[in-house]
Amino acid sequence: MSAFYRPDPNGRHKIILESKAFPSDHFAVLSQIRHHGLSPETSMVTIESPFAEDPIISTYDIQALISKHAADTALILLPGIQYYTGQLFDIPTITAYARKHGIFIIWDLAHAVGNVPLSLHDWDVDAAAWCTYKYLNGGPGCIGGAFVHSRNSLVTTLITDHQPERGYGNRLSGWWGNDKGTRFRMETKFHPVKGAAGFQLSNPSVLDITSLCASLELFELAGGMVPLREKSKRMTAFLEECLSLMSDDAKKLYRIITPSDPDQRGAQLSLLLEHGLLDATMHGLEENGVIVDERKPSVVRAAPAPLYNNFKDCVSFVEAFESALLAAQKAK
Ligand SMILES: Cc1ncc(COP(=O)(O)O)c(C=O)c1O
Repeated sequence: MSAFYRPDPNGRHKIILESKAFPSDHFAVLSQIRHHGLSPETSMVTIESPFAEDPIISTYDIQALISKHAADTALILLPGIQYYTGQLFDIPTITAYARKHGIFIIWDLAHAVGNVPLSLHDWDVDAAAWCTYKYLNGGPGCIGGAFVHSRNSLVTTLITDHQPERGYGNRLSGWWGNDKGTRFRMETKFHPVKGAAGFQLSNPSVLDITSLCASLELFELAGGMVPLREKSKRMTAFLEECLSLMSDDAKKLYRIITPSDPDQRGAQLSLLLEHGLLDATMHGLEENGVIVDERKPSVVRAAPAPLYNNFKDCVSFVEAFESALLAAQKAK
């Protein structure tokens, strides 16, 4: 974002993001706006679901907001998959719409990478970033990844040229983004590698890379994202069906907020519990050996990951969830 957000206070200065963006994204936008001496009150625009009880944001709503602010928007930051609801956004359509309006678009793919197939170059995405803690199994805090479209990461000069900095976009620069041929000469002249690699800041941790490579080898052995996505769709649909077979008493205590259309979600169902049931339900699940994720105030995120979960895990989860939920209600 620091490389591509070049606001003009009298022209394009706004950043559009969702109102319930992951805090990392929200804070990054706030700090970028403030770094440029602007105010979030005038330069930050948030997309809200029009319905308080349904947090899903339609492509139409996003396009309408883009149209409304098109003349003075510099950048859009959206999640490929929304972390709380599990909604998979229509990345190609929204990207095309942003680009048509001359707006730079960045996708946060933390929940999408390793979860759904991504064709970022073909979809004409400007840039994207992701952590590898989730479906890529890197482990908490593992190295992140970035995509920068080739049109945004060209290096057209040689370091020996007169004014070589004319051949690439300015950015936060670090020695690891420097051209490999000169990186170890320890000179003070920055000249980036072309592509996303030219945006690297410092030497990555070998332990991070080792865990990530081990995981990527397993993705390759599993045949890559296409067969995994196919299994993922079937498994998430199966989980949904198992949930629908729970007792009426238990079903009254939660609802699924993730879209029911398999093309609008990844390997995740977000279960919104009745107020006050989350802590006890999570406790009950853990006692039954089920590890899922909670998001305050009231969401349990169940994510059957096709690389290592199976259909039986879905059944075990639903059995444990039903008894934990009913026990939580009784103890209330
Ligand atoms: C959507 C999303 N973005 C970003 C992050 C975290 O990124 P970072 O640890 O780099 O702040 C997460 C979760 O860990 C996330 O869910």
